[in-house]
Amino acid sequence: MNLVVVSNRVSRGKPNEPMTGGLAAALLPIVEKSGAIWVGSSGRVRDGNQKEPFAEVEALGAGALAMLDLPAAHYGGYYEGFANSALWPALHSRADLIRASQEDYLSYREVNAFMARALLRFRKTDSAFWVQDYHFLALGAELRDLGVTEPIGFFLHTPWPARSVISGVPHHRELIEAMLAYDLIGFQTEEDCENFVSYAQSDLGLVVHDGVIISRYGRTRAAVFPIGIDPKQFAQLAMKASTHPDVSRLRRSLNGEKLAIGVDRLDYSKGLINRIKAFDRMWTLHPQLSRTVSLLQIATPSRGAIEAYGNLQSEVARLVTDVNGQHGEVDWTPIRYLNKGYGQAVLAGLYRTAQVGVVTPLQDGMNLVAKEYVAAQNPVDPGVLVLSKFAGAANELDTALLVNPHDIDSMARTIAIALSMPLTERRMRWEAMMAKLRGHTIQQWFADFTDALHDCQLDKSELAPV
Ligand code: G6P
Repeated sequence: MNLVVVSNRVSRGKPNEPMTGGLAAALLPIVEKSGAIWVGSSGRVRDGNQKEPFAEVEALGAGALAMLDLPAAHYGGYYEGFANSALWPALHSRADLIRASQEDYLSYREVNAFMARALLRFRKTDSAFWVQDYHFLALGAELRDLGVTEPIGFFLHTPWPARSVISGVPHHRELIEAMLAYDLIGFQTEEDCENFVSYAQSDLGLVVHDGVIISRYGRTRAAVFPIGIDPKQFAQLAMKASTHPDVSRLRRSLNGEKLAIGVDRLDYSKGLINRIKAFDRMWTLHPQLSRTVSLLQIATPSRGAIEAYGNLQSEVARLVTDVNGQHGEVDWTPIRYLNKGYGQAVLAGLYRTAQVGVVTPLQDGMNLVAKEYVAAQNPVDPGVLVLSKFAGAANELDTALLVNPHDIDSMARTIAIALSMPLTERRMRWEAMMAKLRGHTIQQWFADFTDALHDCQLDKSELAPV
C-alpha cells in the first residue's frame, strides 16, 4: 500500500523544533519509518489560481514530506476562520465560542478542494489516503468527486461532541454527509464514536449496522483507535535530556524544592485558568506548601490571530501575576510561566525533573503530554500524574489521580495529595500506566488503522454495492 498521509500541520522532525500539538509529534516517527508520504501546509500562502499546486518535497526517514503553499485568498477563512473558530470550539463543546461567516465556510471548502487536487500528484497504483483531523472533514468527498476510488481513511484527533453541540456549526449536515465519503473514520474514544454514529442515525436518518454507516457513498466504518506514543523511545529521550543545559539549570534552581509541570498549547480547551486557580487555592489552604513546591507552566502560543486566543493569553498572564504577587516572596516565585514552545528533547527532561505532571484540560481528544510525562519518569522514583477525567487519555491512564477540572477545591486537594504520595504507591500507579502505554504504542495505532482501512477495501470488493 502506497500510503499518503494528509494533515494541515506537518513537522520536519528537527530535534529542537517546538512541538505544537500532539498530531505532528505522533505522525513524525511513523512517517519516518513506514515510508509514507506526508502532505500538509508549508505555512506559506501563494496568490493566484494555482493550476498545479506548489509543493516542496523532501525526504523524511524512509518516507517523504510534501509541503504545499495554500491559496492566499482562502487561507485565513479556512484556518483561523472555519477550522479554528467554528469547528475547534464545537468539537471541544464550546458552542458559545463558535464564530463563522459564510465566506469562512466557502474558504474551508475551497482549501479542501485544493488539497484534493494537489493529492492527485502523489497518487500511485495501490495508493491509500489517510486524512488527519478537522481541517479536512470534506477532503474525502472532494477526492471522490475527482474520481478517486482508492481507500480513504480519516482520523479525528479531537473529541467529537454530542449531537446538540455539533449542530451549532453552520453547514454541519452538509459537512458530516461529506465525511461519509471516507471508508473508515477513526476516533480517540468510544464516546466520540458513539456521538458521531448517533448523529448519523438520528439527524441524517441513516442505517448503521455494527459500526458501519450506510450512505449514498456506500459503507463507512466508524471505530475507535486511541492514539499512543513510543514509550521506550520517549524514556530514552528523557534520560538523555537530563544533561541538556535547560534541564540542568532548572534542577539547580530548585534547591530541593518540588516541581509540578504543565505543558500545553495556549488554548481554552486546556483548562489553564482553572489549573492556576487550583494552585492558588492549594497555597492558600496549605500555606506550609509555599516555598516547597512551584509550578512550571509552559504555554506555547497558538492561533494568536483569533480573538478567543488573544483574550486567553491576557487572562492567563494576569492571573499568573496575581497569584505570584499574592503568594510569592523576595526569593521565591510560585509559578514559573513561560509563554513559548520547546522541542521534545528538552521537554522530556523537564517532565522527568517534575514530581507532579498536571494535565487538566476541560476537553481533550487524547492528550499526549499525559502519556509523555509518564514515559519520561525515572522508574526508581516516578512522579505522579494528575489527569483530567475529560482527556481521552483518562480511559487508559486510570491509575493517574483523576480530577474534575471544574472543581477547583478538589483539584487543589489532589495536587497536595500527589506531592506527598509515598514511593510504593507512586511506583504501583506508574507501573500500571506504563503497562498501558506499552500495550498501545503509536506503531500499534498506525498498524491497527491501516489494517482496518485495508479491510474496508476488501469488504467493498466482496460485497455488492448498497
Ligand atoms: C491540535 C490539533 C492539531 C493541530 C494542533 C496544533 O493538536 O488536533 O490538528 O495541528 O492542535 O494546532 P495548530 O493550529 O497550531 O496546528
